[in-house]
Amino acid sequence: MADDKSLEAIRYERGSLQLLDQKKLPHESVYVDVPDSDAAWLAIKDMVVRGAPAIAVTAALALAVELVNLQTSYQGDAKDAATFIEKRLKFLVSSRPTAVNLADASDKLQQLTSRASTLEGANAKTVFSCFVEAAEQMLVDDVVANKAIGDYGAKAILKAVGVQKNLCVLTHCNTGSLATAGYGTALGVVRSLFRQGKIETAYCTETRPYNQGSRLTAFELVHDEIPAVLIADSAAASLMASGRVHAVVVGADRIAANGDTANKIGTFSLALAAHQLGVPFFVAAPLTTVDLHISSGEEIVIEERSKTELTHAFGGAGHEIAAPGIGVWNPAFDVTPARYITGIITDTGVVWKDENSRLDVGGFASGNA
Ligand code: MRU
Repeated sequence: MADDKSLEAIRYERGSLQLLDQKKLPHESVYVDVPDSDAAWLAIKDMVVRGAPAIAVTAALALAVELVNLQTSYQGDAKDAATFIEKRLKFLVSSRPTAVNLADASDKLQQLTSRASTLEGANAKTVFSCFVEAAEQMLVDDVVANKAIGDYGAKAILKAVGVQKNLCVLTHCNTGSLATAGYGTALGVVRSLFRQGKIETAYCTETRPYNQGSRLTAFELVHDEIPAVLIADSAAASLMASGRVHAVVVGADRIAANGDTANKIGTFSLALAAHQLGVPFFVAAPLTTVDLHISSGEEIVIEERSKTELTHAFGGAGHEIAAPGIGVWNPAFDVTPARYITGIITDTGVVWKDENSRLDVGGFASGNA
């Protein structure tokens, strides 16, 4: 689904799913087979695939593959099939807690298949087929949403910064083709600006401790030949203070109804620095990342990951770099309060700060940002 095969995180055709093992990037491009929901759960937990939209699409497609392969031998009726799907989805959602896209995709697929099981003439095959078609549609829809985000985001940033060329933008973590079904969210905005000839430099943070920035975003920027510079996370405030950043654009894992946004750890520090230094700060995400069930960021569950990601090199896979015996706190995400966000770029438009410096979040409720 991505524009270029070498940046395809998810390779799917009916009955078969392969994931690009992102733990091996940027040095090796190796695809691994994901034949069922058990394998998908492990791949998501272990970060073979990561990024909010990508894990949702992976979970849906892995179960689709499992159902296609199970179909001929399955003995149950339509109701059993719907129950089976519900249980598998619940299990998949337990792999990572913070990104809402996974839970959102699961809810939608579960409701759809549950309805399909009550239709006249329904049997296990019709229920499984309903699931498979809906999961495949999610793969297509995510790319369409990302291209729309890219277009809206490019326009919004140009409007906010008031310059039309030689733009320097800063991004965090990886939100590109590798984090989605293709093109990307925040990195999709950078891609769109670049395609319009507006970008002078795209800055990307290392994104410690897992280095999604230096390994994955840098890989995508170099691949697309976008002029880009890698910085240490701790250099971001100095870079902004030097006047070299026109805007910051980041992705999101879950956006509460009031605009508070959970994203990769370090996003909050970037937003605080941008606010203090008068640099516009944008969040880019599909509407599937907005969780209207929660009123504020306080309700977002933040995943804590293994201490070895900090104490050992290469995200825990390498040699020990920290003093043995030290305590570790390793939250994978943080929450940026809505007041520090200039605008949230979605696939249906941009939610802007209003005249009272509050995010005009009504657009979320109407689904018409
Ligand atoms: O832990 P990760 O790599 O899954 O975290 C990813 C992020 O925080 C991204 O910024 C977010 O999911 C948006 S991806 C389009």
